[in-house]
Amino acid sequence: MSSTEQIQTLSSADLALARTFPKNFVWGAATAAYQIEGAAQEDGREPSIWDMFAAIPGKVHQGDNGTIANNHYHLVQEDVELMAQLGLGGYRFSIAWPRVIPQGRGAVNAAGLDFYDRLVDTLLTKGITPFATLYHWDLPLALHQEGGWTNRDTAYAYADYAEIVARRLGDRVAGWMTLNEPWCSAYLGYGIGIHAPGEQDLQQAIDAGHHLLLAHGLALPRLRANSAPNVPVGISLNFTPIYPADERAETLRDAERADLFVNRWFIEPLARGQYPDGLFAALEVEPPPVQAGDLELIGAPIDFLGVNNYTRDVVRGGTTPARADESIKVGPVPGACYTEMGWEIYPQALADLLIRLHREYGMQALYVTENGAAFKDNWDSGDQVHDPRRVAYMQEYIGALASAIEQGAPVRGYFVWSLMDNFEWAEGYAKRFGIVYVDYQTQRRITKDSGLWYSALLEAWRANTVS
Ligand code: FCB
Repeated sequence: MSSTEQIQTLSSADLALARTFPKNFVWGAATAAYQIEGAAQEDGREPSIWDMFAAIPGKVHQGDNGTIANNHYHLVQEDVELMAQLGLGGYRFSIAWPRVIPQGRGAVNAAGLDFYDRLVDTLLTKGITPFATLYHWDLPLALHQEGGWTNRDTAYAYADYAEIVARRLGDRVAGWMTLNEPWCSAYLGYGIGIHAPGEQDLQQAIDAGHHLLLAHGLALPRLRANSAPNVPVGISLNFTPIYPADERAETLRDAERADLFVNRWFIEPLARGQYPDGLFAALEVEPPPVQAGDLELIGAPIDFLGVNNYTRDVVRGGTTPARADESIKVGPVPGACYTEMGWEIYPQALADLLIRLHREYGMQALYVTENGAAFKDNWDSGDQVHDPRRVAYMQEYIGALASAIEQGAPVRGYFVWSLMDNFEWAEGYAKRFGIVYVDYQTQRRITKDSGLWYSALLEAWRANTVS
């Protein structure tokens, strides 16, 4: 008996939850290229900034890297079969720019494009809808050597790359995400250096952020022009809703400042064609090098917004943080539960966020493109992994999602992070987010109870909506 054949019974509350979701809702799982593919030096792929960064001692937990990862590049057929067994309706994956255009610009690597072409076809054969992210942090190293995202030219190279991918896959993908979490690329990568390429300069982060947004804006029309009509194009942003710890004026002010920096930096240029007032002053930096026409490109309408949310922050004012980009966070919040990442479990934040994006920013179509939790999983070499806390997390967050939809948030789909355990960036393989366990020694996949639960939920939803 394969692990996905184990019987998972749903509670009556789960059954009721399944019934609340609309018919065309996309239920999926997400991954990213560098986190799962491996085959880093195969078939013409050249290094990305993550290969470089992971090779620097001390940057990644235990010196882990994505050279082999989940060996998904070679196990892709089995992995898609697993998705089909789980009953997923959609799969969000990312395309590795250094596999497709190894030097970042110029020569296209046919083997790279072929890999994604086969992936898309295999998904479609299994009835799984492909959603592709064009950039999930793996900038070709050759472009980094010319300044990476601090160099405006990178945005133009990206748009060329996006068009090349669209020409090949645009007849079959169901949606494009131009970028994944540009806030992380910019701030974690250039501002504080805990992600590749490891720079520590807030001004560089601001400039990189602008070029990332420009890359998005330049790619939008080119993706549309080279895809089947009506293939939606969007972007996935990370949001951490900020809540004030108390009602004091200084707390409210600091919570606003945190929201400005953490949540509004990227959504406002996209939704309104302008950076939020006061952002650069609050961060004590110069505005980025905006050229005429940039904000029009960046603010062009998107077809959907991808929302990545895991947690919230509670901010308390009054004490001056050491740096302009920091705020004083309350933790642990009394009575709260935390995941292995140290992230508070607070499902209401997801509902509040989705409603806000609709009401305040006018977003007409939202997908939750990432949500999930890392916990310590115990695998005893058998075919089960009991992860009750992840099941509870998903129940609560999907419950919050249902309530947001009920209140009018136009959410079209949900992608759990992640399909399977994988290379969790600076945390290496130590943090497991999968609904499927991966034994990295053997590359065996074992569906966790959360995977079985999700599968059962989707089954119940299908039984109820297909009629
Ligand atoms: C997000 C990333 C994703 C994964 C999750 C846990 O910020 O987009 O790749 O690492 O966090």
